[in-house]
Amino acid sequence: MVSTGSTTGVSVLLTGIGELTTHDPDHGPTPVPDAALLVEGGRVAWTGPAVRAPAADTAYDVGGRAVIPGFVDSHSHLVFAGDRAEEFAARMTGRLYAAGGIHTTVAATRAASDEQLVANLARLVDEMRRQGTTTVEVKSGYGLTVHDEARSLAIARQVTEETTFLGAHVVPEGTTPEEYVDVVTGPMLDACAPHARWVDVFCERGAFDVDQARTILAAGAARGLRGRLHANQLGPGLGVQLACELGLVAVDHCTYLDDADVAALTDSGTVATLLPGVEFSTRSPYPNARRLLDAGVRVALASDCNPGSSYTSSMPLCIALAVREMGMSPAEALAAATLGGARALDRSDLGHLRPGASADLVVLEAPSYVHLAYRPGVPLVRETFLRGRPALA
Ligand code: NIG
Ligand code: FE
Repeated sequence: MVSTGSTTGVSVLLTGIGELTTHDPDHGPTPVPDAALLVEGGRVAWTGPAVRAPAADTAYDVGGRAVIPGFVDSHSHLVFAGDRAEEFAARMTGRLYAAGGIHTTVAATRAASDEQLVANLARLVDEMRRQGTTTVEVKSGYGLTVHDEARSLAIARQVTEETTFLGAHVVPEGTTPEEYVDVVTGPMLDACAPHARWVDVFCERGAFDVDQARTILAAGAARGLRGRLHANQLGPGLGVQLACELGLVAVDHCTYLDDADVAALTDSGTVATLLPGVEFSTRSPYPNARRLLDAGVRVALASDCNPGSSYTSSMPLCIALAVREMGMSPAEALAAATLGGARALDRSDLGHLRPGASADLVVLEAPSYVHLAYRPGVPLVRETFLRGRPALA
């Protein structure tokens, strides 16, 4: 591990950056070679060629390595107990993924203590930090009672401000869909809204239809929660077009899209968040990201980390899959995993390293970000900085 004791000054110059990706239009589309980056007060103050770097209180030489913005993982379900390894093993020998497995995790989550849920969440966030994720969105959705959804969100809030109320994950056993939608839009929303920024619905056959999704999103909006959707994961459907019609910031999964869905995404500017860990773990066809990018759709990559459909916390894996299986270039995949995720959370301060951005960045054990896809499965994150401070113990 590099000594990082020198990064505690008021202003810190990261220097010796072999390749700096900023996503700053002023630097053009390619990374800056032989670069430096100045951090002041936890924010990026300046970036450019090292030979033109301003003076700083302290300097930290990254030894010629590549530096990228930290990953913004805009879709995860980290508050749960137990795992579903047996379900995964069965899938790999032919069983199809079905949303019904969610009930297994709901039972384990309800039975877990707050301390167990907090510890599991902390373990997963630590995994993410070690793989370069600096912002993570976390959903509820494995409680499905007023009490268990509210406690899931209160626990999620301990690690991120990007929390999402997903009481509408599936209809719990022993309730009718009509009764449950009344609970979600009534007492559950009342209990959860104070802990959430977003409201989400699993809009899919076997979960909630578009009319129910409309009702739940409207109730959330009336309580100040912004909407997002899980849609078109298990098959074609109207969820993506609903998200576009409502002008939602993001719609997630987008595995099965027709031409009308792609046109709606292009016209609305709604971010299509692709979750290649799901296709990997459910043996589903990967969505064609190339088609979306060529149509001018805004694309994000996220992990969807959860114990059922995608038990990976690794954004580098998502990048590698997007490049190998979904038609993205390494540069497009990196942008989707950083800037794209920030757009999917409507956060202009994240996902880039332009002056004013939060100084959330990653030093790679590699000369170029291309290695994230070129060297899949290799732990390439040398150091993660959160608001300018080293985040790895
Ligand atoms: O985003 N699709 C719905 N929800 C999760 C999976 C949940 C589970 O299988 O436990 C997802 O893939
Ligand atoms: Fe999900």
